[in-house]
Amino acid sequence: MDARPDTNITPVSAAAPGSGGVGPLLELKGINKSYGPVQALTNLDFHINPNEIIALLGDNGAGKSTLIKLISGLVQPDSGTIMVNGKPTRLNSRRDSEQLGVETIYQDSALVDSMSITRNIFMGRELTNSLGFMQHRKMRQIASEVLQGVVNIRGIDSPDVLVGGLSGGQKQAVAIARAVYFNRKILLLDEPTSALSVRATEALLEYIKKLKEDGVSSVLVTHNLYHAYLVCDRFIVMSHGQKVCDVSRQETTIEELTRYVILE
Ligand SMILES: Nc1ncnc2c1ncn2[C@@H]1O[C@H](COP(=O)(O)OP(=O)(O)O)[C@@H](O)[C@H]1O
Ligand SMILES: [Mg+2]
Repeated sequence: MDARPDTNITPVSAAAPGSGGVGPLLELKGINKSYGPVQALTNLDFHINPNEIIALLGDNGAGKSTLIKLISGLVQPDSGTIMVNGKPTRLNSRRDSEQLGVETIYQDSALVDSMSITRNIFMGRELTNSLGFMQHRKMRQIASEVLQGVVNIRGIDSPDVLVGGLSGGQKQAVAIARAVYFNRKILLLDEPTSALSVRATEALLEYIKKLKEDGVSSVLVTHNLYHAYLVCDRFIVMSHGQKVCDVSRQETTIEELTRYVILE
């Protein structure tokens, strides 16, 4: 029942560089998804290359979160194909996507208030030794390092603090710490910075860049074009379930992107 996916996980900083493959890490082809009468995605093509940070932009209701949920296995397409490392793949649950190296963090990430920060970071993926015992000290040590080094949250001095007592921004930072520590291939961030302080946001964006050097690609959903422009290599603007713009950093400017987001 409790099939722990991978207890032999190395920290992100030691993650292997990109798999060396030439094609996209992940590719969606001709995806359609509706919720009852609402067509959330229409004939959508999308791909994530190794070593790139993608900004996913667009107004409310454009379909960004639906796209993120498809890749993380939370919703399934009505039609179309999802390819992972070139192979057609079904993602029926979040566990499916996690096993393929996809990590997702949401604005309202599900954390357990009655548990410590450490327990929340390792929830469902606890580190165990060869006898199956949980490695509490090791997890605590890692949690402490990730909290200080990665998300750099103010006001948290111990990973033993219960999550229920944290502010919204601090909770979000814990979710980010969890995602960052376990992610090694694709990181999906659906408006992760909306509850963060300026300082924590800067730290997160910096970390996304560092992750790229370690061979991790990210998809960042944000309303903040300046944040996107600071770190992203490619910009995708969605409108009414379709992709209306897909440009590399060299091909565009903030002004042009702003026009796309406002006008579409
Ligand atoms: N669970 C759902 N049930 C019904 N409609 C939904 C559901 N999730 C999203 N939608 C609709 O699908 C469209 C795309 O939503 P979403 O992917 O959340 O857009 P975005 O994240 O870009 O704001 C919207 O019209 C939204 O109302
Ligand atoms: Mg959304």
